[in-house]
Amino acid sequence: MKILVTGGLGFIGSHTVVELQQEGFEVIIVDNLSNSSIDVLQGIQSITGKEPIFENIDLRNKVEVQAFFKKHTDLSNVIHFAASKAVGESVEKPLDYYENNISSLVYLLQELQNKPEANFIFSSSCTVYGQAEKMPIDENSPIQPAVSPYGNTKQMGEEIITDTAKVTNMSAILLRYFNPVGAHSSNAIGELPLGVPQNLVPFITQTGIGLRKELSVYGADYDTADGTCIRDYIHVVDLAKAHVVALKRLIDKKNKDKVEVFNLGSGVGSSVLEVIQAFEKVSDQKLAYKIVDRREGDITRAYANTDKANKVLGWKTELSLEDAMASAWKWEQKIRK
Ligand code: NAD
Ligand code: WQD
Repeated sequence: MKILVTGGLGFIGSHTVVELQQEGFEVIIVDNLSNSSIDVLQGIQSITGKEPIFENIDLRNKVEVQAFFKKHTDLSNVIHFAASKAVGESVEKPLDYYENNISSLVYLLQELQNKPEANFIFSSSCTVYGQAEKMPIDENSPIQPAVSPYGNTKQMGEEIITDTAKVTNMSAILLRYFNPVGAHSSNAIGELPLGVPQNLVPFITQTGIGLRKELSVYGADYDTADGTCIRDYIHVVDLAKAHVVALKRLIDKKNKDKVEVFNLGSGVGSSVLEVIQAFEKVSDQKLAYKIVDRREGDITRAYANTDKANKVLGWKTELSLEDAMASAWKWEQKIRK
């Protein structure tokens, strides 16, 4: 069965393509290489022995999207990763984010709306919950007003998909990721952040390798055990596997509603200092860091209640934070060589 994976050369997309191929799916990747490298194709092939079909298409280009679907008339299963994802940049350039994350989504859905049957999996984010009152966060936790245009594109994306599913033959699963980290155990694919990483784990590994002088820990005066913020770090391979399970659920028509929502996290909350400790343990070196002021927009804590994904999808994480840090460190060492 053929699956379209948009953004399939990116961090989460590439790991998902590997899992899909290993489960026997035929994958077609669409990516415009705006935040990824063509070399990732080689990395995927070295793991699975199969090079996925790749088309360099910018999903903001409606004409190209239409032409692509004319060529591949049998495509009705889509996993949609392609989006811009830098929260800070989205505040600076809101229209770029609305254009890329919303128009691409709309053009894809327009191609699926008249199919006799279509399945759509969407990369949403725990950011839709904002600072939830109750921990761990379950799927019924209220959606909070978005604090960034990026976050808003995820909320709007969920609504656009839900409205579309109501009036078409499309079913969808919205996956709300917590903090994806780590790299594939083969060390053939991993995260490739452009420029100075905004996210904690790539900043840690780049500091460990000597590319950055020290990590700034954004605040140690939060109301947590060690004063630093708590997040739910999920290994990207565990996350990738959840996409295969979700896709099969739709293909096998096991979904209970036209649109279902699942949290994808490890269920464990880890503080910034705990992540640093995990890195120090697996790399057997001390990390240079200093405590600085809080970063604007950061919430104190967010970790997932994963009961629904565990019970309904029959999926659970298998890898730990240490596994993730060890793989991220191995990957960093490889790409800096
Ligand atoms: P990524 O940037 O590594 O991957 C996204 C891919 O999409 C890139 O390869 C990029 O080149 C491509 N792309 C972007 N715009 C495109 C366009 N207009 N046309 C074609 N291709 C385009 O990001 P990721 O970390 O793999 O994230 C994947 C998805 O998961 C995104 O939707 C992101 O918002 C969401 N998400 C990510 C995180 C995270 O922390 N990484 C957390 C929650 C949700
Ligand atoms: C994690 C923790 C920082 C960098 C972001 C998006 C969210 C989602 C995941 C897409 C926080 C601290 C970080 C640094 C630090 N993405 N930190 N020094 O903010 O939880 O979530 O990525 O949907 O929408 O907002 O992830 O990795 O940036 O930060 O101390 O140099 O590490 O304060 O507590 P975050 P992050």
